[in-house]
Amino acid sequence: MDIQQQTIFGERVPGRPVTIYFEGIRLSAREGQTVASALMAHGFYAFGHSRNLSQARGLYCGNGRCQSCLVTIDGIEHVKSCSTLVREGMMITKYAGDPDVRREMHEN
Ligand code: FES
Repeated sequence: MDIQQQTIFGERVPGRPVTIYFEGIRLSAREGQTVASALMAHGFYAFGHSRNLSQARGLYCGNGRCQSCLVTIDGIEHVKSCSTLVREGMMITKYAGDPDVRREMHEN
């Protein structure tokens, strides 16, 4: 689903079409779209799996704070899909691990 007419902002000018891949599946998206919105537009809501809670992960806060939407993009782990824009040829895979916040804090 792609919203073309918004109540407040009026007509939306769609960005150029791009092709992305999720788990090897070719998907269409538009420049300016986040990875999460592109995946959800194609019916993908589970972006990973929590080992600790044994449940699917996906969009939760939608603004980069909760880390529930982490995916692996072009081999880079822990990428927030809700705040990353699509790029042509982007290879996205589910992230099956849990973020190690303490380790990441000490590395920075
Ligand atoms: S949905 Fe919360 S960080 Fe992406």
